[in-house]
This record gives sequence, structure tokens and C-alpha cells, in this order.
Amino acid sequence: MEKYLINPNEKKSTISKDIYGNFSEHLGRCIYEGLFVGKDSDIPNVNGMRIDVVNALKEMGLPVLRWPGGCFADEYHWMDGIGDPSKRKKMINTHWGGVIEDNSFGTHEFFELCEQLGCDVYITGNVGSGTVREMSEWVEYMTFVGESPMANLRRENGRDKPWRVKYFGVGNENWGCGGNMDPTYYADEYRRYQTYVRQYDWENNRIYKVACGPNAEDYNWTDTVMKRAGRHMDGLALHYYTVTHDWGHKGSATEFSQDEYYKTLRKAYHIDEIIRRHLEIMNRHDPSKRVQLVIDEWGTWHDVEPGTNPGFLYQQNTMRDAIVAALSLNIFNKHSDRIRMCNIAQTINVLQSVALTDGADMVLTPTYYVFRMFKDHQQNTLLGSFLTGGEVGTDEDKLPGLVESASMDENGVIYSTIANTSADSSAEIKCQIADSEVKEIEAEILTGAIDAYNSFENKDAVKTVKFENFSKTADGFTAEIPACSVVKFIIKR
Ligand code: AHR
Repeated sequence: MEKYLINPNEKKSTISKDIYGNFSEHLGRCIYEGLFVGKDSDIPNVNGMRIDVVNALKEMGLPVLRWPGGCFADEYHWMDGIGDPSKRKKMINTHWGGVIEDNSFGTHEFFELCEQLGCDVYITGNVGSGTVREMSEWVEYMTFVGESPMANLRRENGRDKPWRVKYFGVGNENWGCGGNMDPTYYADEYRRYQTYVRQYDWENNRIYKVACGPNAEDYNWTDTVMKRAGRHMDGLALHYYTVTHDWGHKGSATEFSQDEYYKTLRKAYHIDEIIRRHLEIMNRHDPSKRVQLVIDEWGTWHDVEPGTNPGFLYQQNTMRDAIVAALSLNIFNKHSDRIRMCNIAQTINVLQSVALTDGADMVLTPTYYVFRMFKDHQQNTLLGSFLTGGEVGTDEDKLPGLVESASMDENGVIYSTIANTSADSSAEIKCQIADSEVKEIEAEILTGAIDAYNSFENKDAVKTVKFENFSKTADGFTAEIPACSVVKFIIKR
């Protein structure tokens, strides 16, 4: 029997709702077809946005969306995406399949999408191939309230009031696709560009500035950028993808062995150590811990589905991906004292997507259900908690068998999310909640074979159902958590 202790007296930090953010890039069928089909499409839409996808994302509790890239951001010129759509300049999307981008989804369309979703926006600006003036004018266009050249242009294009820009990223992966810069050069460029990301309305529309952070374990990047530019940023953005083998041969999204399952999970779990080490460096340069960590690209990256455009990065999504999502989100919750936002890559039809579309059809992935289960943690207080569970895996790839987090809402209700990472063994747990008399518990579960997934032919192969295999005790519960599952307990006291 594994021991699970939750301490409601140990109130740790507020779990920023933006940890549950998504990332959507002009890549493959993410924006076009996945989110935006245009007003004249036969696919049901409101102002061009797919109704089925918007409703699913609202139900999932999406708090914030990052756009327009990714690598695309550093070759995106925002002025090409405003005004009459039929007259917009076209461009080649050189990163993603070399397709022609017609810019029919631009700034106004993105804000329309976020308004329909009821979510905040995170815009990434172009440092790699754009100018300081271009970035500065975009910010003026979006946020200036009075009369100005850019605010007036916005009005000419049909939008009177400024929009709220909650987060603004100054470049993306500038160590790679965003200009191949070294950290010293980027830090100096960051200082210059961010100067002109003006705060036109500090009271009502304060922009949170995000600097390009490290790729995975590039600790030197964090050290240099924090040293040279730390005082000019609010957040530093880490990117970490879980690649089962290596970049040349990532491995199939749906066909994998149990050993490969554990390899994926071990690599996903490694983000805990990566976060700790980057935070140690950040804290050295910023002892007051003002600058927060942002993880604006994370998730699994498998080989594309056979027969699909390699530049579109379209992959299926199994229970293995769901376990990656659950263990990652539990880890992010545990670091919520320092993590402000995370954005899984990418919302629809790309890497670890929450939904896939095929024409007018849509299927929700196992990862979607994890996000929907975990939405209760948003803005809750993280509680001190501890769960035994030993290790699982192979000689080469080991990780904890049970990964959890627990939070409490303003009414004292406790939410606990547990991932059982074992491929084949259930775990019996005994949970005790300090100083508590438990009145009622509800639970739900997502489980299946490690390679189970939802297809267009079988959309409900994996979905959440009520979980009943537990017994309430005076101060907690006992439960049997099935192999390869994610369980959420809602505990009323
Ligand atoms: O998510 C796909 C790509 O991965 C993004 O465009 C880029 O930032 C990263 O390398």
C-alpha cells in the first residue's frame, strides 16, 4: 500500500491558470483548417472560427493561446496580415513545408479567435528577420488607446478599441530558427527590442515581456541571458520537447514497445530536473525571484503520421502522450511558485495536440482529456503533498511510478491528480489529509492500453469516465489506481 499525504495547512503557491496554456502556429493544419476555416466555409463557423474546436477548447478551460509561432514568428511580418484579406501579401512558409501562406489569418482574426475562446493572448514578435520599428508598431497597433498612426490604422481596419495583450515574446528560439544567435548577442538584441515594446497603458494593459530562453539543457544560455538582460524581462521561456529516440529517428506516435513507452516517460519526467537547474541559475542572477519561468513549448514530438507532409508535423496521440501530459502538468503545478505560463505544442493537428480534424470532422485526443481533468487546478493554492510509489521502467529508463499534485480552491475543496506511469501494474494507495474530516469524494479516470488512441473511426476509445474504485475514510480515502491511468479526486471536507 502506497502512502499519500496531503497537507491543507501547507499552502505553497498559487497555480497560475496560464500553466494550462496552448501554442498555435502557422504550421501544417493548425491555424488553417484546425482553428480557422474562413467565413465562407461549409464547416460550421463563427466569423471563420470552427465552432466544434472553439467549443471543445472552451470546455477544456483554455486560459491563454500563444501565436503566431514558433519558428514562423521570426519570419512573420504582421503588416502583411491586416486589411482586406483578398489583398493581403502572400509569403512562403519556409519552415513548414514551403507552402504559400496567404495571411488570411492575421492580428484581427487572432484576437477574434481569443475573444470567442474567452482566453488571454500571448503574441510572439519577430527578432530574427524583423526590425525594432516593426515590433514597436505592432505593439502600438494592438494597444494604443488614443490617436496615433498605428491606432488609426487599426480603426481603419475595423477595430476601434485597443486589445489586451497580456504576454509579448521578444523572439522565438533565437538560438536556432530565430536567427542562430549566441546568447550574448541575443541578450543585447533583447534589451534593444524590448525597449520599444512600450507600455501604453500600464494600468489596464500592462504587457508581460518574455525573453527567449534556453533549449532544454542549455544552461549557458540561461546564465548569459539572465546576466546581461535579466532586469529587462518578466519571464524567460524554456523549450523542452520529449523525443523518444533522437531527432533523426523520433519513433512512431502509435506503434511502440513497452520499453519505448518507458523511454518516452523517463525523458518527459526529466523536465523536473531541467526546471530546477534553470531556476537555480535564474535565482543566482535574480535573488528576489522576480523573473518567472515560462515553458512556452513542451510536449511529445514523434515521427509524422505515415503518408502525411513531413513539414506539417502531424502526429497521433495515445495514452502514452496523456501520461506525459499528466506527469508534466503535475510537475509544473509543483513548481508554480516560479512558473508563470506553459504552452503545449500545439493545439490542433500538429505535435501533442488536444484535437485533430479531418475536414468537418474532429476528434479529441487523450491529452485533451488530461487538460480538461486538470483545469480545476487553475488559480488554486498548491498544497504540500507526498506520495510513495517506488520506481517503474526498465534498467535504462526509470521514473517514479506515481506522480501527483494537490491543490485547494477558495472553498477548501481539494483536487488531487495522480498519474500511474506503470504500463502493467495498478497501485493501491492510502490517502490521509491532515486535520480533515472528509465528507464526500468524486473521482474520474482516463485509462487504456499504453498505445490506445482516438481515431476518426473510433472517437471514444479513450475518454474520461467516473472512477469508483475507491473507499472514503474518515480523513481521506483508499484507492486502486489502474496501470497507465490518470485519476482526479475531488475531495470535499
Ligand atoms: O513546435 C514546432 C517548432 O518547434 C516551433 O516552431 C519551434 O519554435 C520549435 O523548434
